[in-house]
Amino acid sequence: MTKPIAFGVCGLGRIGAPHCRYFARDRQQYQPTAFCDIEGSRAQAMAAELGGKAYASYEDFLADADLELVIIATRSLDHARNAAQALAAGKIVLLEKPIGVTAADYRLLQQLDRDYPGRLYFGHNHRFEPALQNALAIIAQGLLGRLQVVKLCKHHLFMRRHDWQMRLDCGGGQLSVWGPHLIDQGMQFVGAPIVGVWSYLRRVLTPGDADDHVKIILTGANGVVAEVEISNSMAIPGPYAAVYGDRGALIYDQDQKKIQLKYLDPQFRWPEAVASGETPKPGMILSAERSLPWIEETRDVMPNNSLWEQVEIEIAARLHDAIRRAIPFPVKNADALEVVRITELVKQQNPQFEWIG
Ligand SMILES: NC(=O)c1ccc[n+]([C@@H]2O[C@H](COP(=O)([O-])OP(=O)(O)OC[C@H]3O[C@@H](n4cnc5c(N)ncnc54)[C@H](O)[C@@H]3O)[C@@H](O)[C@H]2O)c1
Repeated sequence: MTKPIAFGVCGLGRIGAPHCRYFARDRQQYQPTAFCDIEGSRAQAMAAELGGKAYASYEDFLADADLELVIIATRSLDHARNAAQALAAGKIVLLEKPIGVTAADYRLLQQLDRDYPGRLYFGHNHRFEPALQNALAIIAQGLLGRLQVVKLCKHHLFMRRHDWQMRLDCGGGQLSVWGPHLIDQGMQFVGAPIVGVWSYLRRVLTPGDADDHVKIILTGANGVVAEVEISNSMAIPGPYAAVYGDRGALIYDQDQKKIQLKYLDPQFRWPEAVASGETPKPGMILSAERSLPWIEETRDVMPNNSLWEQVEIEIAARLHDAIRRAIPFPVKNADALEVVRITELVKQQNPQFEWIG
């Protein structure tokens, strides 16, 4: 049995607080050790709830010699700098998304990745959504044939979000909020390298100045296309994912509970056919096959607990495996850095926004 990882979390807001509780659930793997928030009362409350020390200063928190792992869940613009400070203090780091917001962040993260091998991990927790993992397994089985297109749409409630995440001077905007998750997910289908990026961003509803409607199209060297859409302004949410291959398709809804599949019987082979240059005769049927041997299924997404819970459980377990058992962390640093390269390109393609940095 290995020693539990002594962890601390800095930034105890909407996501930092759940991180504390999920990582603290299995005390054989993780020992809650220290909590930090500039609102000192948040750190004190978490230390009282889970055990550990409370800090209102990041420098004092990093000076805590008992801390092995630091989870950074501060505001987005602080992430890269906070990671550099923690690594320099000798800590292992799990960095929240967006791992970087500016071109300078991107350069700093590349440098940190080179300087601290095996010490810096990127928290793309939605890589572990059960529906995504189930869909990737179905594709790997070959049921959909050769992959052509994947469409991923995060349609929020029709939402006029008005916090710091909708202000560009605070590092907000959906490109930074959900963009890293959906780009990362799209890349799982397309695979590296991404050779084409097209995008268009808009501000539709938010009272802030940031993007609340994002469309990005990624093309892989293999010809697979991923269309990513994030919108706060879609009144009738569409499917979360639609994946088409040359032998079938799958879709799943925003609640990600069931995957609907339609695919050709794996035994079926297309008969030889040639496309004719002749003018079709009136009434002629334009395909050689009158019926196809479709198989239609609806599968429950497994495991069937809440996806929000599952992404936390998985990232904690996989990080423990990486730190204590040298099992490679599924979110490769090169992939997370590729997400930042793509978001930087998207910003250049959308000069209608006043990006900072
Ligand atoms: N991976 C996910 O599923 C997920 C979900 C939500 C948010 N996020 C990301 O997490 C980050 C935080 O988002 P949030 O919604 O929790 O924000 P939030 O505003 O609710 O929380 C941020 C917390 O950090 C504290 N803080 C700010 N500056 C600090 C500093 N210098 N030192 C110590 N504490 C400081 C604040 O007091 C606050 O408690 C954002 O970058 C966001 O994009 C990720």
